[in-house]
Amino acid sequence: MLIERTKNGDSLSHHIVSELREGVLSLGINRPERKNALTPQMYTGLADALIEAGTSDHVRVVILHGSEEIFCAGNDIEQFAAHEPAQDERPSIYFMHALSRLMKPVIAAVNGPAVGIGATLLLHCDLVYAGRNTQLVFPFVKLGLCPEFASTLLLPSRLGHQRAAELLLLGEPCDADRALLLGLVNDVLDPEDVLPRARETAARMASLSMQALQTSKTLMREGIQQACEQQIAKETVAFSRLLTSPEAKSAFEAFLKRRKPD
Ligand code: COA
Repeated sequence: MLIERTKNGDSLSHHIVSELREGVLSLGINRPERKNALTPQMYTGLADALIEAGTSDHVRVVILHGSEEIFCAGNDIEQFAAHEPAQDERPSIYFMHALSRLMKPVIAAVNGPAVGIGATLLLHCDLVYAGRNTQLVFPFVKLGLCPEFASTLLLPSRLGHQRAAELLLLGEPCDADRALLLGLVNDVLDPEDVLPRARETAARMASLSMQALQTSKTLMREGIQQACEQQIAKETVAFSRLLTSPEAKSAFEAFLKRRKPD
């Protein structure tokens, strides 16, 4: 079975490509002109697809991917600069909950920059394959913001506080080899091999017992799920407050006008 839903107005956004084949749902972020930066419509499209995947008997495994050049430049900064929706109305929050609550395996195929939420979402995937050109960047503090998507909980607990601080407080980019060393990705490959590798692993997983997979993932997540949700809620309050700060506004303006931030 193959489903392609790329038309605007469909349940998936214009910039999200979906394909369902032999139990594997591939969700591709496809907005190359903006380096796959995510808009509210794209978050909603992804979240709807993930929620549907959780209940559909046709979906056993999910793959998230970008292109061979770019995974995702994070939240659309133009939209950050223009809009101030109330904290829990942000479609990004809807997406975060949809991904972190999905108890079917999620495999990420990453190439090029994975910035902001493009990097933090990887902490909620079960397997991550990275191209040699991958760069994980958590630029929140540099933008006058704070990290989100439970990354303030998950990164320190996985890497130790000091190594997490390099990534989260300094916003230092992490290349593919370092990400492998830190245990943030499963393998590093040539960019053209990343998606095929994710597909091969997904096919192997899809041939296993669905009930056993879901039960096992649920057990793996159980101990941290509630803590993640609480952290997302706390981060969301802080993030929403910082989003309207003069420092953040100035950083967004600097990015959009291609000048150094004040
Ligand atoms: N939001 C909106 N537009 C973005 C964007 C974002 N997050 N990231 C990139 N773009 C746009 C650029 O403004 C540029 O637009 P233009 O062609 O109209 O000038 C276009 O995408 C290409 O980006 P560019 O910066 O020229 O590409 P690059 O290959 O040199 O660098 C990145 C790619 C992803 C490293 C860089 O764009 C970047 O750092 N983006 C910001 C990411 C970020 O801080 N996100 C976190 C938000 S919390």
